[in-house]
Amino acid sequence: MAEIAMRQLKLAIRNIFHRRFLRPLWPIATHGFLYRLSKEIPPPVRYLEVGVREGDSMNAILQNPNVTAVGVDSWGAEAGGTARGSADHVKKYLGPEKSSRVTLHSGDSHVLLKRFKLPEFNLIYVDGDHSEAGAIEDMDDCLKLLAPGGTMLVDDIDHPAHSYLRATVLAWAARNNMAIKTHDVGQGVAEMRRKDAETRA
Ligand SMILES: C[S@@+](CC[C@H](N)C(=O)[O-])C[C@H]1O[C@@H](n2cnc3c(N)ncnc32)[C@H](O)[C@@H]1O
Repeated sequence: MAEIAMRQLKLAIRNIFHRRFLRPLWPIATHGFLYRLSKEIPPPVRYLEVGVREGDSMNAILQNPNVTAVGVDSWGAEAGGTARGSADHVKKYLGPEKSSRVTLHSGDSHVLLKRFKLPEFNLIYVDGDHSEAGAIEDMDDCLKLLAPGGTMLVDDIDHPAHSYLRATVLAWAARNNMAIKTHDVGQGVAEMRRKDAETRA
């Protein structure tokens, strides 16, 4: 009982810290990068985000009116999640106009992505399960959903809490014949495209 209460207290403190201090800083780095990249893609931009958390990256990219988005999150406490339990807070945060361009799926990405029979996406942002096996599975699943010429991003490749992630992503890119560029924004972002694709979709 005391252990559960302590865990809830820790989560509540982390949520407050995230909203008060991290949230205002984040757009300067990764989210600004994401938005700029979306502007380089000829519209319509069909965007998939794995790992939505509080909706900050979603909010940034939806500032581009040519973006329609699909998001997946378990709304739990994994990989820096804030354990909100449902998608309601994201829709509220985004407001009616941006919400009208988003579909959110609640659950485990390793189950949900395999079920998707959606039109392919020309921009995918993998920022969910940061374990080695989990990131590989998300990249594998997302590659099947990536349009020809589409771009796949993986976040946090230089995050100190996931020190294996850069090597994991580089090795995955080599195995899957993906051209890869890494960017020193936020905690490191990998940008990948199929080598046989010449232009962004
Ligand atoms: C780093 S946060 C995402 C941050 C968000 N993209 C942003 O920049 O504002 C990672 C999110 O992935 C979610 N997550 C972790 N593992 C997951 C899984 N297997 N399936 C679905 N969501 C997962 C967590 O709940 C958390 O909300």
